Amino acid sequence: MTTNIPSAKQRANPYVEVEKILAEFNTPQLQCETDTGIDTIPLSSEVSFNSWQPDIPEEYWKLEVNELVQRVRASRERLGDQVVILGHHYQREDIVQFADERGDSFALAQYASDRSDSPYIVFCGVHFMAEAADILAAPHQRVILPNMEAGCSMADMASPPDVYSAWRELETFFGSTADIIPVTYMNSAASLKAFCGENGGAVCTSSNAVQVLEWAFEQGKRVFFFPDQHLGRNTGSEMGIPLDEMVLWNWRKPAGNLGDLKEQALRDSRIILWQGHCSVHQRFSLPQMEQTRARFPEVEIIVHPECRYEVVQAADATGSTAFIAEYVAKANPGSVIAIGTEINLVSRLAKENPDKTIFCLDPVVCPCSTMYRVHPAYLAWVMESLERGEVINRIEVPNDTKTHAKIALERMLALK
Ligand code: 13P
Ligand code: SF4
Repeated sequence: MTTNIPSAKQRANPYVEVEKILAEFNTPQLQCETDTGIDTIPLSSEVSFNSWQPDIPEEYWKLEVNELVQRVRASRERLGDQVVILGHHYQREDIVQFADERGDSFALAQYASDRSDSPYIVFCGVHFMAEAADILAAPHQRVILPNMEAGCSMADMASPPDVYSAWRELETFFGSTADIIPVTYMNSAASLKAFCGENGGAVCTSSNAVQVLEWAFEQGKRVFFFPDQHLGRNTGSEMGIPLDEMVLWNWRKPAGNLGDLKEQALRDSRIILWQGHCSVHQRFSLPQMEQTRARFPEVEIIVHPECRYEVVQAADATGSTAFIAEYVAKANPGSVIAIGTEINLVSRLAKENPDKTIFCLDPVVCPCSTMYRVHPAYLAWVMESLERGEVINRIEVPNDTKTHAKIALERMLALK
């Protein structure tokens, strides 16, 4: 078989070379918010800067990446142990290089609860992750999110009022919610974590969803799972729950419509899935997998469990971002691996594993647009402000929410 895969020696920048191979797929290029690519450009040149946190002082707007990186490095040195920087795998290269701890959302939550030595935690990730850090951090610690507009579109699909309203409908329909265990994916607002804590439920992440759902089924008959339908369905399926026992609650329907479900289907259900999804992971598809396998018969395809059910079923392996990173690191030299997850992680794994051919299953380079909002200009701003004693962009979960959310998070942490 001839695949024209370049040798490690030929690949000075493996991702660029793989992009050339992938160009042969001839997939039409789609526009996305980050269509300038994943290399950092000055903040004011970003297509979407207007929709990011705009009150960053103008002195940071036009700085080139090298200058920003130097300023962050210098600030980091001056701050020393005062600050710990946590970085999610999807962060840009120019951010993740400063992370004292890098990880998936589970590992970062654990770090936040273990690193009580530093008074400031700068969380390079998205809003729900920084909230989880604030819930788990010691009382004297302050959590900072460099750009307050770094949210998560999936988390936003489960608004607390919609979830409470659905819960009330379930209570009316079943006569009680005593047998329904609410489980929220980490990608959700702190108030929903608190809701789970208050109602006998728990939080899960992509690395422990099976253990959390097993625990939930020991507590009750049914699970109410939000916001990611795909993680819920993929996990239920892994546990042997038939697809027709996992029903989809359409939260866009006005209250009183049982989320557009038939009464009998709801009665027979074991998992009630919220109709949320991740726009980044929903892009991965069976046709992409078929094309990839036709082009590289030896390929292994690994995907994140936020991908659609049929994609996960057809993949060789599925797991969290940490699982994916470990899978690639352990693969034999010469392996060809297509990955169904966010492009910054895939690109980094390609660079870190030059003896393997690593590429994204989706030929269109499209980062998670909210993770991408953590531009080094924001990191420089919050760090330099800390040096002056100013805490910019603090994430502070109200105390009563914190108390209940902590219960739900600790139920999860106790399982692993
Ligand atoms: P991980 O928990 O696997 O890091 O995933 C977080 C996330 O937001 C994936 O889209
Ligand atoms: Fe949210 Fe998807 Fe981005 Fe993860 S990749 S932070 S789920 S929008």
